[in-house]
Amino acid sequence: MAYLEDVAVVPRHIGIIMDGNGRWATQRGYRRTRGHRAGVDAAKRVVLEAIAQGVEVLTLYAFSTENWRRAEEEVAYIMALVAHNLRSQYDFYRENNVCVRHIGNVEGLPGEVRREIARVTEDTAANDAITVNLAINYGGRDEIIRAVNRWVANRDDGSFSFCEESLRGHLDDPQCPDPDLIIRTGGERRLSNFLLWECAYAELYFSDHLWPDWGARELQEAIDDFSRRSRNFGGMPKEASTVTVGRAG
Ligand code: FPP
Repeated sequence: MAYLEDVAVVPRHIGIIMDGNGRWATQRGYRRTRGHRAGVDAAKRVVLEAIAQGVEVLTLYAFSTENWRRAEEEVAYIMALVAHNLRSQYDFYRENNVCVRHIGNVEGLPGEVRREIARVTEDTAANDAITVNLAINYGGRDEIIRAVNRWVANRDDGSFSFCEESLRGHLDDPQCPDPDLIIRTGGERRLSNFLLWECAYAELYFSDHLWPDWGARELQEAIDDFSRRSRNFGGMPKEASTVTVGRAG
């Protein structure tokens, strides 16, 4: 009798809330924008380690639907940085066989960012060492609302039967497995509207290290911590199920 999912040592899908760029820069007497630049370097280090560990999907929360509330200058800088890096990191994606995808509301993004997203997702579609999902103008609530609207628009059988699969099938990336592990850096302990539907059974890992200080070692520590967790997806813990099955049998 199998009550349990196998315990996966390496998470198949990791989502990361990359927090702490601003504080990293301020602590060093730099402008906040410099922290975002350092954040891109951290993202590359973490992508390389994720590939080395055998992670299949990495979702990076680069810009939330709430981040538009930041100072206009900072928003403009982040948008330009994202567009520039989608373009300039092309060799990095190719050399490391990285498939880049996007989740979030593409319609709310500046034209340059939209064009670069379209180009890089098309050009890297066949790469298969890892999929890096960039969550840009992404909000979990917004994704759910857009999924429902897509379902309504696509409904061609006149039925009103709406179920988990209806919503799942209309999320931004319906084929993507749910995250096994969600990491938040920078000391805060909340999800901030990240992967709200998909996080149902994700393990959560909070790190005090600021995002620009992240690299291979920090990711390895998070994966080690994950591998020690017991996941039963609402079933019974391993020890309890063994005892119960033994007695009943
Ligand atoms: C979080 O730190 C930073 C962001 C939400 C901005 C965008 C992230 C990057 C530019 C890094 C990587 C980007 C890509 C495209 C891979 P914060 O500014 O909220 O830091 P704070 O909490 O210290 O102010």
